[in-house]
Amino acid sequence: MPQPKPSSLSMHLDPAGIALDGRKGLAKQLYLALRQRILATPDTHRIKLPTSRELALALRVSRNTVVRAYEQLYAEGYISSRVGDGTYADGLAAATAPGADQAATGATATQLSAMQRRLSGFGGRRRFDGPARAFRLGIPAYDLFPNEIWGRLQGNFWRRAPLAQMGYGEAAGNSRLRELIAVYLRQARGLICDPSQIMITAGAQHGIALCAQLLLDAGDRVAVENPCYPSAAAALTLAGAQLVGIPLDQDGMDTTQLAQHANCRMAYVTPSHQYPIGVTLSLQRRLELLAWAERHDAWIVEDDYDGEYRYDGTPLAPLAALDQSARVLYVGTFSKIAFPGLRLGYLVLPPKLVPGLSALRAMADRHPPAADQAVMAEFIAAGHFQRHIRRMRRASRARRDALMTGWTPLFGAQLPLPKVAAGLHLSLSLDSFSQEAELVAKALAAGVEINPVSRFCLPGQVVSPQHRAGLALGFAGVDEIAIQRALLALQQAWN
Ligand SMILES: Cc1ncc(COP(=O)(O)O)c(C=O)c1O
Repeated sequence: MPQPKPSSLSMHLDPAGIALDGRKGLAKQLYLALRQRILATPDTHRIKLPTSRELALALRVSRNTVVRAYEQLYAEGYISSRVGDGTYADGLAAATAPGADQAATGATATQLSAMQRRLSGFGGRRRFDGPARAFRLGIPAYDLFPNEIWGRLQGNFWRRAPLAQMGYGEAAGNSRLRELIAVYLRQARGLICDPSQIMITAGAQHGIALCAQLLLDAGDRVAVENPCYPSAAAALTLAGAQLVGIPLDQDGMDTTQLAQHANCRMAYVTPSHQYPIGVTLSLQRRLELLAWAERHDAWIVEDDYDGEYRYDGTPLAPLAALDQSARVLYVGTFSKIAFPGLRLGYLVLPPKLVPGLSALRAMADRHPPAADQAVMAEFIAAGHFQRHIRRMRRASRARRDALMTGWTPLFGAQLPLPKVAAGLHLSLSLDSFSQEAELVAKALAAGVEINPVSRFCLPGQVVSPQHRAGLALGFAGVDEIAIQRALLALQQAWN
């Protein structure tokens, strides 16, 4: 095993995202997962692995399983032990390691495009995946999705042998689905638009990426909330944007600070429920943001990713409904009401942008899959969608309550939770990064997924002090019993 190079950066292997599926061969699965992590790490880094006891606890497997996986890695030369200092993988040059996947490791990054390289600061993948766990961000109560109804509607679609929908379709998507979304948005969000302004996408992420590709040139400045949703930041950066972080307060993005940025071509915002802080952009700020866009001839991308989840009070009108000068591109998704794996969402565009975006989209993926669109249209037309929204709102409220009532007696004195009137997650602020790192690491080691708020801050840019360090917790993805269990695990972990 090579000794660490003088320039090597040390990092701890984070077990988050390692999902073992509970079948036989756990040690083999774990060996493969660890090997992949090691190979995917740049050769300028060395990784310190958790002790076998820590990893066994974090993954809820026996220590023997971890020891067997470590033994195999050791035998094949991926890791080495240092007496008194633990187990390390010393940054293998992935391209020379057996079985390494060059594209995944980034070993050939210099041969990839400048566009691809813009992603290098973003990690390029979600931190957590696999089965839902407390307190993962960004997932709804998809355990409640009516699979049987969906399956029946899919069956109906295929039984009718829809030849008309089996050829190429319109780039903007299924026209019936677009009509139904227009009706839904008018009734539920007070957003009046024509179906011709709607483009069906593969979820909000696709919608944001399309907006960026349509409107940005390399070097264009884009104002984003700071902290901000990292995948949106990545999609904007991929299109060449220079991100300008605007601090937040309890009313959302601080538009007085935004006013100093006349040279931004676009602002990206999450007004209903800021991601990750959870505040709502006030009406005053909405109007100021629209006035800023008009003054500076800028675009606004409004990400209404969890706009259906409002628990108290009436929701404010989306920016797109207040927009008088056709500057707002509204991003909606079915991920948070149906399930993220569905990959269906939509954009509502100013009419003048429709032809350009349709042409752009057609050259990427032509149009969305016909069957899923047709089934979603039927799901909405038959009333299942509205019923399901009500069920999801009830369930998320109950899960929010379970988190809040369980949390307060255990941690409320030191870590009080904010009021949560909307959305699928909450965040609380902390005084220091060290406290944040300690709480997150202990939670992860206990198998509880908690995100540090600092992860969402743009490096080197101004953030308001109360939003620099904190914890972000999703509460909707698992049921009340799992929430209780996770709180007990946290109690032990945090002592
Ligand atoms: C703020 C925000 N926008 C967009 C998305 C992405 O949604 P989709 O699954 O539709 O791409 C998420 C998902 O977590 C999100 O948190």
